[in-house]
Amino acid sequence: MSVDSKIKERVEELKKIIQEHNYNYYILDNPTIPDSEYDRLFRELQTVEAQHPELKTPDSPTQRVGALPQTAFKTVSHIIPMLSLNNAFTDEELEAFDRRIHEKLQSQETIEYVCEPKLDGLAISILYENGILVRGATRGDGSTGEDITQNIKTIKNVPLKLRGDFPSTLEIRGEVFLPKAGFNALNAAAKKLGTKQFANPRNAAAGSVRQLDSRITAQRPLAFYCYDIGKGDETVSTSSHSKDLEKIKTWGIPTVPLLSVVQGYQGCLEYYKQIQIQRNQLPFEIDGVVYKVNQKVLQEQLGFISRAPRWAIAHKFPAQEELTIIRDVEFQVGRTGALTPVARLEPVAVGGVTVSNATLHNMDEIERKDIRIGDTVIVRRAGDVIPEVMSVIKERRPHDTKPIVLPSKCPVCQSAVVRIEGEAVARCTGGLFCPAQRKETIKHFASRQAMDIEGLGNKLAEQLIDSGLVQHVDDLYKLTLDPLANLERFAEKSAQNLLDALEKSKSTTLPRFLLALGIREVGEATALALTKHFTALEPIMEASEEALQEVPDVGPVVAKHIIAFFKEPHNQRVIRSLLDAGIHWPAIKKTDPSKLSLSGEIVVLTGTLQSMSRDEAKKELVALGAKVSGSVSPNTTLVIEGAEAGSKLNKAQALGIKVIDEDAFLKLIKREHSL
Ligand code: IVH
Repeated sequence: MSVDSKIKERVEELKKIIQEHNYNYYILDNPTIPDSEYDRLFRELQTVEAQHPELKTPDSPTQRVGALPQTAFKTVSHIIPMLSLNNAFTDEELEAFDRRIHEKLQSQETIEYVCEPKLDGLAISILYENGILVRGATRGDGSTGEDITQNIKTIKNVPLKLRGDFPSTLEIRGEVFLPKAGFNALNAAAKKLGTKQFANPRNAAAGSVRQLDSRITAQRPLAFYCYDIGKGDETVSTSSHSKDLEKIKTWGIPTVPLLSVVQGYQGCLEYYKQIQIQRNQLPFEIDGVVYKVNQKVLQEQLGFISRAPRWAIAHKFPAQEELTIIRDVEFQVGRTGALTPVARLEPVAVGGVTVSNATLHNMDEIERKDIRIGDTVIVRRAGDVIPEVMSVIKERRPHDTKPIVLPSKCPVCQSAVVRIEGEAVARCTGGLFCPAQRKETIKHFASRQAMDIEGLGNKLAEQLIDSGLVQHVDDLYKLTLDPLANLERFAEKSAQNLLDALEKSKSTTLPRFLLALGIREVGEATALALTKHFTALEPIMEASEEALQEVPDVGPVVAKHIIAFFKEPHNQRVIRSLLDAGIHWPAIKKTDPSKLSLSGEIVVLTGTLQSMSRDEAKKELVALGAKVSGSVSPNTTLVIEGAEAGSKLNKAQALGIKVIDEDAFLKLIKREHSL
């Protein structure tokens, strides 16, 4: 065989292998090789194609990286118009839809429906000729759209080439969208760069798909799900929509997930409720569900009315965003003195709940969104998240809006408010003099993860501070029955319950106690790590900055906060007083170093870890008893492989040294951390 035909053969083979892995990964959700292996194959193909451009074909998996920018999109006529859906907002409207279907079909029989999530993205059409992706288009006005082929080709789960026995001409339709994680990553990057952030995943998807420079689209983690066939349907000989989708899947095309076949509109309503519960946990945004008559013969009989099918309807969720007006802005003071601006709104129903307050986060956010008192704004309430002001409708700004000004004095205790250079948050300097901070401190101290004082919630914490019965957390343990029982709406029984709960809380653990103290940046994980490292309170109180930084999870900033906290005489007094009151915890045994899971091991890190920095990983390894080394040698006993691991990995493999991936490493850490 000549060199050329050998190379050609290898290119074909690589394309086939990569396509197969794409199918396993995107369609079957079952990758059979590690990412590193996939990357190697991909790079090999890229290299050969660069050396032999004549071997590059449009269906090559390397063709997803984007092409040169265009000056405008060409227009595309849709072979079959792309229709829209009618909407139902209530159960009654859905029932009416089902009734109309029965009337039109002149039948009493229960209708079988397919239920699908309504993906919140952009409708597109993708055309395959002889199994090769030849055209991608936006819906446009339904008859003509824009040619976005180059951009569609960059979407990782869209096959460039079909598999199986597909029709020679196949047009599929579906939704392009940006999964929530991708959207958050995109906005986080934009925030860092100081560029414009997207209001929601839908806008971000639309902006990405309509990029003239497809190299930019290639950077956006878009995804696609098919929910319909356009041209080619006539050659697919199945009898129902659900079977169509099954067939489409065998061609390597990702179809809409969470699909369910139900009987009658009652079945649809159950599906709606189920999906509503799952909604916040889904990896992508949805704005409702879609019901479609499953049998294709019935679909044909029902036909279309104006621009929507009679056989399908979208059942929308109540809007999560509404318009309202900002009447005023107040500043709330948190435990650490942070001032949070809160908008007082003209009350508005959002997703079935009346919203009259929304967070504005901090002054930087107010400036970035250019929010003023009197503005009409979009408020959003998603799941259990605190309602948030998303953006201002500038067109509706009246001439007499007022700017939002950071107060120079704490609205609660009148102490000075300071804003440290480079920090977004402004803080009250009142410290424990500030009743607002004291209330929050008490709430935090009593919370479930900290001292777990049952019954001591928001209301009671406020009463205790306002009545003067409690100033600082140690005063809690000095409370007696009489004055407590005199508090408003507080009978002897509840007073006794609180005293019992306080007594019970005295028996605790060191991590809980550390967390309860409310040291800045010391959350549950850090409290646990400090405990494991130092095993007692005194050494933590006396530790130097260097000693603290040896603890995994503790960097220079956290170390400084810990030092500052324990240096403060007031804090030392409160701690002593708490211990005198009888707070105690079981002594922690020092772990025998030889019993640690990696004791005696010499470990090398290679590649990039996704979940932690290299310094963090080193600290974790030391905490697990390992020695960390920079290079692989015959003495190395273990290699931890991050993303894009290079020569160290090859050497380790050559030397037959055990290699584990990041997941396995995280499992080790987790096991060690469970006290
Ligand atoms: S079917 C003829 N199914 O909703 C039927 N549409 O409001 C065509 N959409 O333009 C649409 N998820 O962009 C269908 N599972 C789904 C959908 C879905 C989202 C979008 C699609 C359509 C719009 C209509």
